[in-house]
Amino acid sequence: MSFLSATLSRVKPSPTIAMTAKAAELKAAGRDVIGLSAGEPDFDTPQNIKDAAIAAIAAGKTKYTAPDGIPELKQAVCTKMKRDHGLEYTPAQVSVGTGGKQTLYNALMATLNDGDEVIIPAPYWVSYPDMVLLAGGTPVEVETSLENNFKLTPAQLEAAITPNTKWFIFNSPSNPTGAGYGRDELKALTDVLMRHPHVWIMTDDMYEHLAYDGFEFCTPAQVEPRLYDRTLTCNGVSKAYAMTGWRIGYAAGPVELIAAMRKVQSQSTSNPCSVSQWAAVEALNGTQAFLAPNNEIFKRRRDLVVKMLSQIDGITCPTPEGAFYVYPSISGLIGKSSPAGTVIDSDQVFATALLEEADVAVVFGAAFGLSPNFRVSYATSDEALTEACARIQRFCAALT
Ligand SMILES: Cc1ncc(COP(=O)(O)O)c(C=O)c1O
Repeated sequence: MSFLSATLSRVKPSPTIAMTAKAAELKAAGRDVIGLSAGEPDFDTPQNIKDAAIAAIAAGKTKYTAPDGIPELKQAVCTKMKRDHGLEYTPAQVSVGTGGKQTLYNALMATLNDGDEVIIPAPYWVSYPDMVLLAGGTPVEVETSLENNFKLTPAQLEAAITPNTKWFIFNSPSNPTGAGYGRDELKALTDVLMRHPHVWIMTDDMYEHLAYDGFEFCTPAQVEPRLYDRTLTCNGVSKAYAMTGWRIGYAAGPVELIAAMRKVQSQSTSNPCSVSQWAAVEALNGTQAFLAPNNEIFKRRRDLVVKMLSQIDGITCPTPEGAFYVYPSISGLIGKSSPAGTVIDSDQVFATALLEEADVAVVFGAAFGLSPNFRVSYATSDEALTEACARIQRFCAALT
């Protein structure tokens, strides 16, 4: 019998982290690798947020806090939910965790039993299915299509629901595609959920603020207030506030669920870093003025990448509404060979060859549950993006 748990054997390590580590290894060995695999903004954390953290340290706010967050941060989340979405929450309905990842994980740990199914549209953020497996549930992946801009249709959602469905995980704008659901598209999905009162919705709004071309972000409980009692709205400060290393995420939902999540967290990690929590209070309550100029930069980079990748024969690259990813299809390249003799028979082989033969790190689509594609993170400089896309163009042009 293995020393390691049977549950763990069902889970795979994060491929995005693995790809980023492989690129770093090649860089350390002296190779001029351009990394487009990491899911974090290249911007620095805004100064007002850093100052709030420094002030917290100086004031001795360095002790244990309540396991799922200081009252000030819970209140800041309530204020944000009201301000941005018109949704009323009290601090008892808010859970703060060590990154968005932990709050999602807590919710699954707190609710899943053997046989419980969780609907996950594919492509998905790599951690959803594995977190469901770790929590003892069964992920039900539903493939979307490039033709539908990687968005789940109401008919697909309807067909995936069974008596065992516990959660529907919704992520807009999406990692890895950047696809954002407009109000009507989201309403069509919530209409389906209204017909199935046993299904709860876990919405991951992590990329809420990163949206372009006037895209209007909506969250499910705002679009269908009758779902309020079975919606967990998850969010965090990592992406919009360039705070990936600070590790603060939060969720708002029904009191009983939040209390159950607190129980999980209090017996595992306890409170997220006290200093980071004070920084997050400032992120949510302080100026939001840097969001618009940052988005201008992201939009310019998105357009640059979409344009250069769309020039490649064999690649189709839709223009997404938000986040900082594009998810091009390489279906027109499958079966071709590189000058080094690599036969491109999958997106995994494509991404590996791109790294080894062209010094560009991307993440293969199979990691996100939809092939043959790859994910480009454009959260890096215009120069690096231009050079990386030129390398991808040359690599693809040399395929025969
Ligand atoms: C869709 C999505 N949700 C949640 C997270 C987790 O964010 P955090 O770094 O706050 O744990 C990420 C991070 O990549 C993400 O892309």
